[in-house]
Amino acid sequence: MTHTHRTTARPYLGFGLGLRPAHYDAILNESPAVDWFEIISENYLVPGGKPLHYLDRIRARYPLAMHGVSLSIGSRDPLNKDYLRQLKALADRIEPAWISDHLCWTGVEGINAHDLLPLPYTEEAIKHVAARIGEVQDFLGRRFLIENVSSYLTYPESVMTEWEFLREISERADCLILLDINNIYVSSFNHEFNPSSYIEAIPIERVWQFHLAGHQNHGDYIIDTHDEPVIDPVWELYAEAVRRFGDVSTMIERDDNIPPLSELLDELQHARSTAFQAQREFTASADLS
Ligand SMILES: [Fe+2]
Repeated sequence: MTHTHRTTARPYLGFGLGLRPAHYDAILNESPAVDWFEIISENYLVPGGKPLHYLDRIRARYPLAMHGVSLSIGSRDPLNKDYLRQLKALADRIEPAWISDHLCWTGVEGINAHDLLPLPYTEEAIKHVAARIGEVQDFLGRRFLIENVSSYLTYPESVMTEWEFLREISERADCLILLDINNIYVSSFNHEFNPSSYIEAIPIERVWQFHLAGHQNHGDYIIDTHDEPVIDPVWELYAEAVRRFGDVSTMIERDDNIPPLSELLDELQHARSTAFQAQREFTASADLS
C-alpha cells in the first residue's frame, strides 16, 4: 500500500470519444467538437509507424487519456514490467490526463483469456489488488484509475457486493475510479441488483471519469459489446451519476460496428444535454432544500 499519491482536485475534460483509426482522417481534417479522446494504450506501444504518427498530430489539438486492457491487475502472475515500461514511455510522450485499466484479471500463467474476468469479492482479493495498484502507481509515478467491468458470473467465495469491493480497493490503494455506467447497468441486469445502490456507494472524490457504451440484450442476459448506441436506461443511470458525482469527464466507447464520426458526435451531444439537465435538476433541488 502507498500513501504517496494523495487525493487532488478532480480535473475535468468535458465530453470525449474513444479514438479509433477509422476516424483519424476525419478528426485531422474536420477538427470536430470533441473535448478529448481516450486511446487504447496497447495500440500505440510500438515505437514509430503510422499509429504514433497520427497520435502525435491529434495530441497537438486534443487532450488525451490512456486506457489499457492488458494490465490484469487481479492476476496472480507478477506485474508485467515490460508492459509498464512501455506504458510509461507512451505517457512521457503524450502527457495524458490520466491512465486507466480494468478491475479484473485476463488469465493466468501467461495465458491471456482475452476477456476481462471479474474477481471474487473477498478480503484476500482486496489486499492483493490494492497492493498491485500501489506498485503500478509507484512505477508510473502517478495515481491510476481502475474501471468496473461488466460481469456474467459470480463466485461462491464472494462475501460482499461489487460496489463494496470497488470502494474498498480504491480507498486502500488510494487510487481513482473510472466508473463505467453501462457496466453497472449490465451487471445489475445480470445479477438483479439495484444500480442506484452501486452509484450511491462509490466515493465522490475518487471518480475521475465515466464510460458510456451500448450493449446487446439477449433477453435473460446482456453482453457488453460496445457495438450499439447507448440505451435509455443507461442514459437515466448516467443522469443519476451526474447528480451524485457532479462534473466528471465523460466519454462514449464504441469498439465495433463503428459508425461515421458524425453519428458519434450526435450521441456525444446527447451526453452533454443529459449531463447539463441533470446538473440543473441537482442545483434546483439543492435550492429548494
Ligand atoms: Fe468501459
